[in-house]
Amino acid sequence: MFRLDGKVALVTGASQGIGAAIAKQLAAQGATVVCAARTLRKLQEVADAIAAEGGKADVAVADLSDGASVRAAVATTVERHGAIHILVNNAGITRDKLLIQMKEEDWDAVINTNLKGAWAAMQAATKPMMKQRWGRIINIASVVGQMGNPGQANYVAAKAGLIGLTKSVARELASRNVTANAVTPGYIETAMTADLPEGVKAEFTKQIPLGRMGTVDDIASAVVFLASEEAGYVTGQVLSVNGGLLMP
Ligand SMILES: NC(=O)c1ccc[n+]([C@@H]2O[C@H](COP(=O)([O-])OP(=O)(O)OC[C@H]3O[C@@H](n4cnc5c(N)ncnc54)[C@H](OP(=O)(O)O)[C@@H]3O)[C@@H](O)[C@H]2O)c1
Repeated sequence: MFRLDGKVALVTGASQGIGAAIAKQLAAQGATVVCAARTLRKLQEVADAIAAEGGKADVAVADLSDGASVRAAVATTVERHGAIHILVNNAGITRDKLLIQMKEEDWDAVINTNLKGAWAAMQAATKPMMKQRWGRIINIASVVGQMGNPGQANYVAAKAGLIGLTKSVARELASRNVTANAVTPGYIETAMTADLPEGVKAEFTKQIPLGRMGTVDDIASAVVFLASEEAGYVTGQVLSVNGGLLMP
């Protein structure tokens, strides 16, 4: 089940954390995975780790906040590997501040990377996916995009926007057998949450019915499912992977 042999995937933000785990799990199911982010050295480490396990991986340096760079990464994927079947928009940043202190640069940086970058990648990948009558778009949003969070107005707006964008794209592309879904992680142990004080982490954990923070593999498993042939009748959905923190 959930094999991806012969499929080509592009994963953004694949140089560490959730994106690296997604790239590894997709490759373990047989996909050729192009790992994209800004830092070549870290991308190469992930690609080398995939190759060491017998998987197929490539790297593409790209800045998601720059539309031309995103389009180039999609074009490179198609040129080098002949197709793009799976697009995982995972790259994301935070610039947390209370609304009253938030600078326009904080707003723009987060919206440009987390929302506009995903839009640009989807737009570039749509044509080849429509032509081949098969595609899977998976957008990594966040539980806070479903419930709001103080100090994260920019991030929450981007993630809630990404959910809406996913649903619109799902409706536009369904007739071409291209699905689009969002995954909303809860609190996951990565660099993004590493700086939270232990007391704050303990408080968060108390609110999670499954009693722990999530792992990167919890998210990657959900992505593998949505990327698979078996998920062909699932589109426009939001798959919450949050330990029960929110039951929308
Ligand atoms: N961790 C959590 O608890 C959590 C919860 C909910 C949702 N999420 C979402 O899950 C995704 C991954 O999170 P994570 O915790 O794994 O984050 P992370 O460890 O901070 O990794 C972020 C990834 O995005 C890449 N990236 C950042 N800005 C980029 C840009 N402008 N262009 C290209 N790549 C860029 C980074 O690589 P470079 O710096 O090399 O470019 C890195 O590979 C994000 O969208 C995040 O919002 C995370």
